[in-house]
Amino acid sequence: MKKEDLIELLATYGQQEIIEYCKGLKPHEEDLFFKNLEGLDLKVVFELHKQFSLQDCAVPPGQTIKPASIVPTPRINEEKEQEKKAKAAGKILLRDGKVAVLIVAGGQGSRLGFDGPKGIYPISPIKNKPLFQLFAEQVKALSGRYGTDIPLLIMTSDENHDDTIRFFEIHDHFGLGQETLHFFKQDMLPAITPGGKLALQTNTSLFTNPNGHGGSLKGLYDSGILDMLTETGITELFYCQVDNPLVKIADPVFLGYHTIAGADVSTKVVRRKSIEEKVGVYVSGRNGDAIIEYSDLSPEYMSALDDRGNILYWAGNTAIHLFSLPFVKRINDHGFALPYHCAKKRADITDRTGKLQNLDIWKFETFVFDAIPLAARTCCMEIERDEEFAPVKNKEGVDSPKTARSAMIALSKDWLRKAGVTVGSEVTIEISPFFALDEHELVQKMKDKKLAIETDTYFGE
Ligand code: UD1
Repeated sequence: MKKEDLIELLATYGQQEIIEYCKGLKPHEEDLFFKNLEGLDLKVVFELHKQFSLQDCAVPPGQTIKPASIVPTPRINEEKEQEKKAKAAGKILLRDGKVAVLIVAGGQGSRLGFDGPKGIYPISPIKNKPLFQLFAEQVKALSGRYGTDIPLLIMTSDENHDDTIRFFEIHDHFGLGQETLHFFKQDMLPAITPGGKLALQTNTSLFTNPNGHGGSLKGLYDSGILDMLTETGITELFYCQVDNPLVKIADPVFLGYHTIAGADVSTKVVRRKSIEEKVGVYVSGRNGDAIIEYSDLSPEYMSALDDRGNILYWAGNTAIHLFSLPFVKRINDHGFALPYHCAKKRADITDRTGKLQNLDIWKFETFVFDAIPLAARTCCMEIERDEEFAPVKNKEGVDSPKTARSAMIALSKDWLRKAGVTVGSEVTIEISPFFALDEHELVQKMKDKKLAIETDTYFGE
């Protein structure tokens, strides 16, 4: 958009203050200001401000829900047979090169208090491998196992793109070829004051935020990566967040249930630990299945119990999904279809004299799980938390690096015990995906060794 058109747009939406502010800038600053506006969807923000001024951001729409139908973790023989069938179907998809992997890593990660992209946070218990390395190694090991190059896509944002790229370059992309590894940036959106005014981050740029992880489904489409994947015959996208070191990337069982159901979107859920746990809840709503964020679900549903006293809406969102690529295309073809959420926050805004002020601000984001109600068919499967879900969110306490490392060690020890290996209780274990990608592989390798491990041990490539 040309400068004159931008000024006209700003005027149409009552942004006289910012127009006047620009007039006071030096010519090169003014040029920079307008250059920084390029690519920002101002109109959508003004329209969202109008919409959310009529409804309080924090009040969720009326809810009528019931528990969703979910594939259970297999306990009885019939369920074990179903799981076997699913695994076989998933393996075929992997062998046929139908699967790509997406890690969303564009968020701000402010709760962890780590200076840098969350993906470079060192997490593995012995080698201190960063989160990105764990994922890249799993993808490489999986590619080897299935004899195909599984594409790994990483979504970043303006806030961490360059640091992420540099990190992968320094580490030689962890051995992944250029044709396998793809980065794309999600869009940024300007935040707005409750009174509907744009705010400044610096004297030449607006205060912006990444457009939410739902922006990944838009970014894939806009960047051309979706078309590129489709042209190479890929049909399914495995999706996960950068914060879960225990994630089983492109799990064939999950892929199998997804493809047998003919699902557009599939989700893995865990049993909620408590009524207070800060996870989204997978439910069946008026328009089919949906995930409702814990902060948006009414307390009466959040705390509802079944007749045995267990949590009724037990299915906690792990943010592990599968998307069919034709579906991702469909929700973009006529304009991006995901709804926006509004978050009211305090933020440090630069005022027109250059001083920082801590003010109320509205940020707009889309959530990837809002794609679920748009799907013609969905699938949801239960997983064991100890095996697949240990997110790193906070510096300390729950969902912290400490709890994630403990979970990684406990899982490795569990695999070893199943292989008949004795492991001391204080011993730290780390298993590289190149040594064993899963329990089955580990058991095959170790079962006749009759080992007893009494010192910290890394099982490497
Ligand atoms: C999220 C889910 C919650 C789920 C939990 C599981 C939401 C709103 N909630 O909570 O339902 O139970 O994970 O761990 O998603 N990200 C981007 N771009 C963005 C925003 C986020 O890439 O614009 C990425 C982050 O880098 C991170 C992930 O999305 O990998 C999680 O985002 P966050 O906002 O921290 O969600 P949670 O509160 O952790």
